[in-house]
Amino acid sequence: MDKVTISKLYDKINEYSNKEVLVKGWIKTIRNSKTFGFIEVNDGSCFKNLQVIFEDNKISNYKEIAKLNVGSAIKIVGKIIITADAKQAFEINATQIEIEGECTSDYPLQKKRHTLEFLRTIPHLRSRTNTLSSAFRIRSKASYYIHEFFNKNDFVYIHTPIITSSDCEGAGEMFKITTIDYDKILSKNIEKVDYTKDFFGKEAGLTVSGQLEGETMALSFGKIYTFGPTFRAEKSNTTRHASEFWMIEPEIAFSDLKDNMKLAESMMKYVIKNILQTCPDEIEFFNKFYDNELLQKLNGIIENKFEYITYTEAINILIKSNMNFEFPVKWGNDLQTEHEKYLTEIVFKKPIFIIDYPKEIKSFYMRINDDNKTVAAMDLLVPGVGEIIGGSQREERYDILKNKMNDKGLDINEYEWYLDLRKYGGVNHAGFGLGFERLIMYLTGISNIRDVIPYPRTVGTIV
Ligand code: 4AD
Ligand code: MG
Repeated sequence: MDKVTISKLYDKINEYSNKEVLVKGWIKTIRNSKTFGFIEVNDGSCFKNLQVIFEDNKISNYKEIAKLNVGSAIKIVGKIIITADAKQAFEINATQIEIEGECTSDYPLQKKRHTLEFLRTIPHLRSRTNTLSSAFRIRSKASYYIHEFFNKNDFVYIHTPIITSSDCEGAGEMFKITTIDYDKILSKNIEKVDYTKDFFGKEAGLTVSGQLEGETMALSFGKIYTFGPTFRAEKSNTTRHASEFWMIEPEIAFSDLKDNMKLAESMMKYVIKNILQTCPDEIEFFNKFYDNELLQKLNGIIENKFEYITYTEAINILIKSNMNFEFPVKWGNDLQTEHEKYLTEIVFKKPIFIIDYPKEIKSFYMRINDDNKTVAAMDLLVPGVGEIIGGSQREERYDILKNKMNDKGLDINEYEWYLDLRKYGGVNHAGFGLGFERLIMYLTGISNIRDVIPYPRTVGTIV
């Protein structure tokens, strides 16, 4: 008999009703009397458990099964019975239960609520809890819908390099990749490392963004996106920063900042709409236990148009607020989390694009506006998370770009290829980066990035 997943049973209950099936999973709860008992089994295919009824006079190993601990893996053969008035819509009446793997009694996930902090210490087991399994299933689905969205809209999916020699954000946050034996160098008292002798013949690192290579591809294919791992050696120990995270980066040729915002808005709405449709149990769970306004918030996104304000307008709102912010609000300063939170959570109460930031606080590739003070940048801020998307129209004018790169201290020789794009059929183009983990935080109401990544890496911690 072929195994059926619990998810399939719920999907096609009419087909399975009164049929004999084989299910395999892990015991979530077990209780029994002398002659019969109940097991809640979960196989990870969906949020819901399957209730198993087992009876002494129906299975041969009743006593052995009744003794099993929570966490044990079992195989059940039995008939699916519709239970119209019970809590669950159907159950399985076991005729055979086999033990696949027993679980010892020191299993850390006993039936009680554990703190997320404790669960972080057992990343190899925490994916069996309701919270983490729901977050990771949503992660899987969201990734699928992102690919679907771009595919439906004729974007070409590009794999940009993970090992690179260019620091896209110019923030000096690249992890180094090297085969140089530092211990050896230190023991020889060598003061300066000769990178021409290193593996690639020059300094290399893990990518902080696939954008620059993405731009080259957009100027070949018109519309591209990347979706891959990104690394940042940022020393920010916050609930929103990870050293390894995933980023979605579309890049569109013949486009400006407005097109870029439109794209970001329709992508966000597409993913949210589909997650609401396909993960209702998970969303309901998060709505109940993590954020009582989650459902309302997500539905609100689909129904309302995103708005945008300029950075200058945002600064004026913050100044007029008379709030006692920790970081001073001044034209020219970057917006801090507390400012972003105030804008999205208190003033607008919904996602909002902030555009046209001062050129000094943004990356070299952003297009300078006519005022010569600001750049065509856009950040999408959302309640609860803050910045979820960062993007811009790119500087397409050769001389302006080159001057700016010089001003920002970039080694022009390393970026000839990037400047070439402005020489050989350059066009207006724009793009953005969506932090995938921040999207999952937004979709679930989970407030710490460590709880939306199976194996989080953050400054000072690698489990
Ligand atoms: O704003 P960022 O730094 O923009 C870029 O990297 C551009 N090159 C993107 C582009 O235009 N193609 O990063 C984009 C997004 C942020 O808005 C945030 O959601 C996420 O990536 N992000 C992080 N997420 C988790 N941990 C970190 N340390 C992150 N740094 C950025
Ligand atoms: Mg940013």
